Amino acid sequence: MFEPRIVAFVCNWCTYTGADLAGTSRLPMATNVRIVRLPCTGRIDPLFIVKAFERGADGVIVSGCHPGDCHYSEGNYHARRRFRLFKELMDFTGIDSDRVTFSWVSASQGQKWADVVNGTTERIRALGPFEGYPGSEEVA
Ligand code: FES
Repeated sequence: MFEPRIVAFVCNWCTYTGADLAGTSRLPMATNVRIVRLPCTGRIDPLFIVKAFERGADGVIVSGCHPGDCHYSEGNYHARRRFRLFKELMDFTGIDSDRVTFSWVSASQGQKWADVVNGTTERIRALGPFEGYPGSEEVA
């Protein structure tokens, strides 16, 4: 069976701690996700997502503090705007935007993190492997 590789870009203060809570609480979770911890979702450049797909990811999760809870005041608002546009760009280029999950998970929401991981893994499994950007083989 196809097992997707999923990269999660998460902020240090909320989602990373929520993911840690999910782990220490031994919540059942798919093991397909590799976490990249960053200071804030505002630091996550959309090119990180492009690179993740280029290097073999089948799906990506971006997750941080809930609106109003960002430790740098407005980083997650910038991220939310940026990723709304990024998803539209994905659709425009022919890449299924369902391969990217955007969520808010606080430090106390271990169960929500487990749900995001399991839900994303199921969705990417159904989509199948990411086979490159449409037309990318012609450019290379
Ligand atoms: Fe978590 Fe900004 S510190 S999103």
